[in-house]
Amino acid sequence: MSLMTSLPAGYRALVLGASGTIGRGFVEKLTLDDRCAVVERLDRTSVAPLILEEEAAIKLAVNAIASHGPFHLILDATGALTIDGQGPEKRLESMSARSLARAFQINAIGRGLILRECIPLLPRNERCMFGVLSARVGSISDNHLGGWYGYRASKAAGNMLLQTASIESHRTRPHAVFAALQPGTVVSRLSEPFSRGHETVTAENSTTGMLNTLNGLAARPQAWFVDYKGLSIDW
Ligand SMILES: NC(=O)c1ccc[n+]([C@@H]2O[C@H](COP(=O)([O-])OP(=O)(O)OC[C@H]3O[C@@H](n4cnc5c(N)ncnc54)[C@H](OP(=O)(O)O)[C@@H]3O)[C@@H](O)[C@H]2O)c1
Repeated sequence: MSLMTSLPAGYRALVLGASGTIGRGFVEKLTLDDRCAVVERLDRTSVAPLILEEEAAIKLAVNAIASHGPFHLILDATGALTIDGQGPEKRLESMSARSLARAFQINAIGRGLILRECIPLLPRNERCMFGVLSARVGSISDNHLGGWYGYRASKAAGNMLLQTASIESHRTRPHAVFAALQPGTVVSRLSEPFSRGHETVTAENSTTGMLNTLNGLAARPQAWFVDYKGLSIDW
């Protein structure tokens, strides 16, 4: 049974960060969907590797798969929390120019460049969706615990880039849905050191929930910020 019933039959999908737990989960689900004609994947192991710190590499990686588009469903499941062996900063004293720059390079600048390169691959006159893996901790209004400076700030910046790209793209792609997605706590390389004591969700249930949620969202100028259960999150 197809999850993406609101997309045209024979829709094409692109998953970025397909080597990660959540990215792999998306690829597995979409490969099993009879209505999905193509599942293209990009990550650091691709022939043209997707390296978020390298603008030229992002361009080359996307160019390498562009002829297989347009893509009705684009999912950016890239992101990092522990970077260069450094976990998230718990206190102001742990924050450094380097820790902030590295988090921004991957979670915000990398995301922005992916949006720039991939939005042209969405069809102009058909329903289509661009979902990016954000995080609830990227919500400014929902920050009750503090800490995780670089990750929180870079996820918030990534959300702003998405929102701004969504508004601009609506003028030429009025049927496109843009959404920042919160997957729940999915045990993965990224979350494993921090997930103890948290209620977790399997990659299977999280990706099913996010696809279901995306399927039901209406196209509008603004991006959505939603969790895998379909509940809205305040920016
Ligand atoms: N898991 C959770 O509980 C959770 C909760 C909230 C939000 N999220 C978000 O969900 C997304 C996916 O997380 P995940 O749990 O699936 O983590 P993951 O298994 O560590 O996957 C992360 C993905 O991002 C890629 N990546 C990281 N740094 C990169 C870089 N510099 N250049 C190119 N690719 C890079 C990884 O590539 P490699 O395989 O080459 O390293 C991998 O494909 C992230 O944006 C994360 O912030 C996750």
